[in-house]
Amino acid sequence: MSQDAVRIKGNAPVMKVHVIYAHPLEDSFNAALHTLCVSTLQAAGHEVDDLDLYREGFDPVLSAQDRIEYHDTAINQRRVAGYVRRLQSADALVLCHPVWNFGWPAILKGYLDRVFLPDVSFRLVDGKLSPGFTNIRKVMTVTTYGSPRHRAFILGDPPRKNGTRFLRAVMNRRVGVDYLALYNMNNTTPASREAFKTRVAKALRRL
Ligand SMILES: Cc1cc2nc3c(=O)[nH]c(=O)nc-3n(C[C@H](O)[C@H](O)[C@H](O)COP(=O)(O)O)c2cc1C
Repeated sequence: MSQDAVRIKGNAPVMKVHVIYAHPLEDSFNAALHTLCVSTLQAAGHEVDDLDLYREGFDPVLSAQDRIEYHDTAINQRRVAGYVRRLQSADALVLCHPVWNFGWPAILKGYLDRVFLPDVSFRLVDGKLSPGFTNIRKVMTVTTYGSPRHRAFILGDPPRKNGTRFLRAVMNRRVGVDYLALYNMNNTTPASREAFKTRVAKALRRL
């Protein structure tokens, strides 16, 4: 946990939590989940740095120049330095997004393409990879699927693997990883959606 981010509330350490949210509609279920994430974390005393990719108009396209500079660690961060700093000063990361085409929404995938750079999310020395976000000790994904879980399972559930195994590989070696997913959104009820929100809030309070 970064020293400057640590404050003490009672006996519990307070974290700096970077929330990254990707959904275009303000009245979506994901928007409600995003609001819940931010308000629950703040109520628990955490410092929240909230990044709403759509509202911010994040450009997810990795340009020709971005690709040319990708491996040049002296300059590869220059167009996304602010986003890099926000990740590097976080103790915890919470992603909130729907599943689209069994992956992250394009704006979130593009964020990773452009910001998870060599010498940022990972280091490559003599052919050996090591994690870059050693400051991040907790990662949580809050997400929703249209499909039931068994259909996602048959397809290998790539977003679950990205949200757990891939993200774990670029964080602190002792990172705690949580993946909270509401499957089968096409057949949920108000009660099952409320139950999911309760589950999310409980997990966030324990972050
Ligand atoms: C462009 C698009 C692609 C989608 N692809 C998938 C998919 O591959 N698998 C899946 O389970 N659901 C898929 N869905 C359904 C969404 O996951 C579902 O509508 C969303 O989780 C509901 O949350 P929302 O009401 O906040 O948008 C897709 C929806 C859209 C709009």
